This record gives sequence, structure tokens and C-alpha cells, in this order.
Amino acid sequence: MALPQTPQLRPNEHCPPHSYDPLLSQTLSSCGKRLGGPFLKKGFLKKHPKLNRKFRLNTASFTSNLYIFIYNMLKLPTSNQPQHNFYLAPLRGITDRVFRAAFEKHFVRLDYMLAPFIPTIRGDRVKEHHIKDILPDNSSNDPLRLIPQIIGNDSDGFLLLSRRFADLGFASVNWNLGCPAPLITKKKRGSGLLPHKDIIKKFLDDTVPKLSIPLSIKTRLGLNSKDDLEALVPIFNNYPLKELIIHPRTGSQLYDGTVDVDKFEICMKMSTHSIVYNGDIRTVDDFNYLAKRFPNVNNWMIGRGLIRNLNLIGEIKKEPVQPIQKFLDDLLDAHLNRSAVLGRMKEIWRYLGDGLDETGALTEKIMRCKTIDEYKNLLKSFLGNGGKSPVCQR
Ligand SMILES: Cc1cc2nc3c(=O)[nH]c(=O)nc-3n(C[C@H](O)[C@H](O)[C@H](O)COP(=O)(O)O)c2cc1C
Repeated sequence: MALPQTPQLRPNEHCPPHSYDPLLSQTLSSCGKRLGGPFLKKGFLKKHPKLNRKFRLNTASFTSNLYIFIYNMLKLPTSNQPQHNFYLAPLRGITDRVFRAAFEKHFVRLDYMLAPFIPTIRGDRVKEHHIKDILPDNSSNDPLRLIPQIIGNDSDGFLLLSRRFADLGFASVNWNLGCPAPLITKKKRGSGLLPHKDIIKKFLDDTVPKLSIPLSIKTRLGLNSKDDLEALVPIFNNYPLKELIIHPRTGSQLYDGTVDVDKFEICMKMSTHSIVYNGDIRTVDDFNYLAKRFPNVNNWMIGRGLIRNLNLIGEIKKEPVQPIQKFLDDLLDAHLNRSAVLGRMKEIWRYLGDGLDETGALTEKIMRCKTIDEYKNLLKSFLGNGGKSPVCQR
């Protein structure tokens, strides 16, 4: 477990103690008026204006005290309670349109989904195969919730793609400043751009004024140093970004080591933009720890933790746990005609196995599968036994 652990929050602990609920307040206030009614009708208080004022003040303070008393007794959820938004993180090779559709069919509806990156294109035309994963359809590609992502450092290529996204109805576009793959970073793309403030500033100057949809950025703390982002946030503050998604690792860490939530906090506090936290949310406790530590953050992006436990967001929202079998069947069916189907399923099991398969024996067998029938049979015996085969238990 990478994130520090804190005792689990009690229900409603997020509620500020005196948050104002207009509906409840209105009800209680009308109660107070009704209590004063009989006196006023008799004309007693009308004849004594001083007493009348005192009575009204007492009634008001009685009302508000009653409200606070009832509120504290019941700890009613109020309209000020934080509304958390959950984003699916982009995992290239896993969270494609098929995954996104099957996930939402069998588990929870996501608030937003960031699509895996599309590289900038040279030339003056976007071909359908460049963007086929995000083309709007009836299932997974709701343009108001799916956010297309571009990787690159060339403003013209970025604008070409984002114009197409705008035409397709997408509400925003994301710039990838986080990819840690050495093949990408050495070309000054992804997290490879983070030490180059001047290139980033020029890109934003050339791009932002010409965009017809808002831009968000997904970033890490830096490439080799954890300080790159701290130096960039004041620059980002000069542009009207939709949001800043921060994965608090450096590029050179790849996915190793731990996330640095202290550095996240520094950057979050410096930023004038809406922040999305991303990184190592694997359990409900991880989420509760972060939500308590960062009460102003309402946006949470989850990737590997959600593949590891497909019910994670449902569990955070206290929704019933859904079985995974039909989801896996749908995924397999949808990919069946594709040559890379076995590779796809293995990629998913790299994370899913971590959550489902305690001994690791099933995952190891899946990784060694040579045919799809072998995979199907393994899965059948595992799931047929309620996911509790002798070799692997939840
Ligand atoms: C296999 C894989 C593919 C990824 N593809 C992308 C991508 O296309 N775009 C991107 O911004 N991040 C990508 N990421 C990074 C994730 O979106 C996320 O930032 C990272 O996994 C940390 O979040 P998590 O701990 O919740 O998984 C990828 C990560 C993995 C492991």
C-alpha cells in the first residue's frame, strides 16, 4: 500500500458542522412562525412593539438553535456535502471503447472518462483510423463525458485534431504532459516536456487562443525532478484551463515507488484551476484518506485500481457489488474478431489478477495461455467456482 493509512471516516464526517440547508431552514422557520402565531392573532404582541421584537428575535434564535440541534443529532446530509466526481484514467491498450462500454454496462456510470492518447498528426487531414476509438456512438463515447487526449508538442497538429474533436461535439480536449515512456519523453513529448518551461509556454501561447473547446492538462510532478510542476503552475495559471489533472510521480519513476501527496498539495494550493487527483487509489481506504486530507478536491481519477477492483467506485459510493463474469464475457465477445484478443485479455488480467487472484497462480496460467480456448477454460473453472477456485481466492 503506497498511500498512508488513516482510520476510516465516519459517515457524514465530510459535512461541515453548520452547513446551511435552505430547505430544512425554511421548514424550521415556518415552524417558529406557527409557534408565534396564536400570540400575534390575539393582538397581544401588536400592542407591545418592544416585546414583539424581542419575541421575534427569540423565535429566530430558537429556530436556528433547533436547526443546529436537529442537524447535529441526525447529521443530515446537506446541499454543501462534497459531490465527488470519478474519472476513468486512460490506460492505453485497456480502456478503449469496448472496455468503457462494458464497464458502464456492468458497473457504475462514470462522471468522466479520459480516452487514451492520440499522437499529433502531420499533414492537414485527420483520418478516421486515427480517432476511431473516440468516434461518438451509442455506447461508450458520450462526447460530454468522454475527453479525448492528445500527446505532442506541435501546436498545428494539436489544433488540427482538436478542431475535429470540436466538430464531433466533444466538450473539451486534454493535453498529455505525463507519459513516462522513454521513447516518448526523449522526443520532448508527455512528461519529457516538463523541464522545458519555454516550450510549454510557447505551445500554450500558440494553441489556447485558437482552440474552440476548453483545454485541460494531465501531468506528473516532473520528468526527473519533483520540482518541474511547481515551476510550471504559475505559467498554467495564466491560461483559461478547464482543469489540471495531477499524478504525483515523476516520469523517471514510471509507475514505481510511491506517489508524493505532499508535493501534490503544494501544486494544488498554487494552482488557480480546478484540480483532479490521480494516482494509486486502490481501495476505499485510500480514497477516504485522500478525500479527508484534501477536502477541496472533488475530482478523482482512477486507473489501475479500477481494473484491479472493478467495483471500487461502486464500493466508494456504497452501491451493491456487481459480479464480474458478464463483464469479462462481453469484453471477450467484443474483441473476439480481433487478432490481438488474447493480448488484450492478458493486459487486463495483469491488474485484475492483482485484485482477484490472491496466490497469483491463475494470473500466471493466463499469461501462459496460447489460445483463446485455453483462456476461456481457465476462466470458466475459476468463475464457475464463484471466483474461489482452490488456487485463487478473492
Ligand atoms: C498501461 C497503461 C497505459 C496508460 N496510458 C495512458 C494514456 O494513454 N494517457 C495518459 O494520460 N496516461 C496513461 N497512463 C497513466 C494513467 O492514466 C494514470 O495516470 C496512472 O496509471 C496513475 O493512475 P492509477 O494509479 O490510478 O493507475 C497509462 C498507464 C498505464 C499503466
